[in-house]
Amino acid sequence: MQTEIAKIEIDETGSIENYDAIVRAGQIIRAGGLVAFPTETVYGLGGNALFPDAAKKIYAAKGRPSDNPLIIHIAELESLTKLTDHIPDEAIRLAEAFWCGPLTMILKKSAAVPFETTGGLDTVAIREPSHPVALALIREGGGFIAAPSANTSGRPSPTKASHVAEDLSGKIEMILDGGDVAVGLESTIIDLTEEIPTILRPGAVTLEMLKSVLGEVRIDPGLIDEASAVAPKAPGMKYRHYAPKAEMLLIEGEASRVTEKINALAAKATSNGRSVGILSTEEAVDFYPKGTVLSLGKREREDEIARHLYDALRRFDELKVDVIYAEGFSDAGLSQAIQNRLLKAAGHQVITV
Ligand code: TXA
Ligand code: MG
Repeated sequence: MQTEIAKIEIDETGSIENYDAIVRAGQIIRAGGLVAFPTETVYGLGGNALFPDAAKKIYAAKGRPSDNPLIIHIAELESLTKLTDHIPDEAIRLAEAFWCGPLTMILKKSAAVPFETTGGLDTVAIREPSHPVALALIREGGGFIAAPSANTSGRPSPTKASHVAEDLSGKIEMILDGGDVAVGLESTIIDLTEEIPTILRPGAVTLEMLKSVLGEVRIDPGLIDEASAVAPKAPGMKYRHYAPKAEMLLIEGEASRVTEKINALAAKATSNGRSVGILSTEEAVDFYPKGTVLSLGKREREDEIARHLYDALRRFDELKVDVIYAEGFSDAGLSQAIQNRLLKAAGHQVITV
């Protein structure tokens, strides 16, 4: 299959200049085909959420196990009534505070949602993204787009159109290129079918922000303790996600000791003939004499770190390094999401100094 790549131009007022490309993409979705599109978090691989066969095509293009449910993207709050028969009060309050934006809610599904889209679950994940291209495509495509991140299963999520093309060219009808994404990490997922609202995946809508609206919020024990026996509730969280091709280790502790430890590890690996990648922050970037060093940005600029993380992991893949040593982050605010993705990429290999 030939994949069309359409660059979408957005003017200063936020309106789309070549809207005809969106109309074409919407027709593809309505006809049951697949279109990758930008959201504010990461690029998504979209298909019609109400067509069982579109979900099957998505799983095939990604090489993803079909028990891993998809998020349905909507463009207006009213669309919720099609996807669920019961909208809890918490969902309305969260939508008022954080939609459109990087928050996904899990609700009981209605009969209109095919089990193919939910991976056989009787619940459904829903979000209203804020990217103008995503919103326009959802409207043109009929209102309901199922979309996982637009990467091959097991690779880092795409934060630019070239990442999508790397993984999915030839496998889908169209890619809408809306430039680099703003957030860089996937949406926060909150399960509202539990007695206490439960975070299944941390993201840019943080625990603190959710608590400010809902009061009590808990974090899925499978998330905190993924290395142990507690099974995470979001099926996707059980797979080794966000994985670079190289072995990766996360080094945590006081900054100067982290740098010292990484240098010791890098020296040893280099002398054993292994090529080394170092995932650094701007403050430390000049203190690593060995290895290929990529800086994610200033440590206090969590937003920059989040935006650059997946691109850096992909660059290490291209450079074919054998091992990556990464500086760790704290577990508060947006850093909680950064640290969660780093832990996954490292397969939970952590050294504390
Ligand atoms: O930011 C995002 O959420 C991006 C953009 C494209 O919107 N999408 C995304 O989708 O990250 P995906 O498929 O890569 O991750 C969806 C996660 C998976 O871990 C899946 O298991 C979980 O959401 N999920 C989906 N439906 C669920 C449900 N009904 N119950 C529990 N977890 C669910
Ligand atoms: Mg994904």
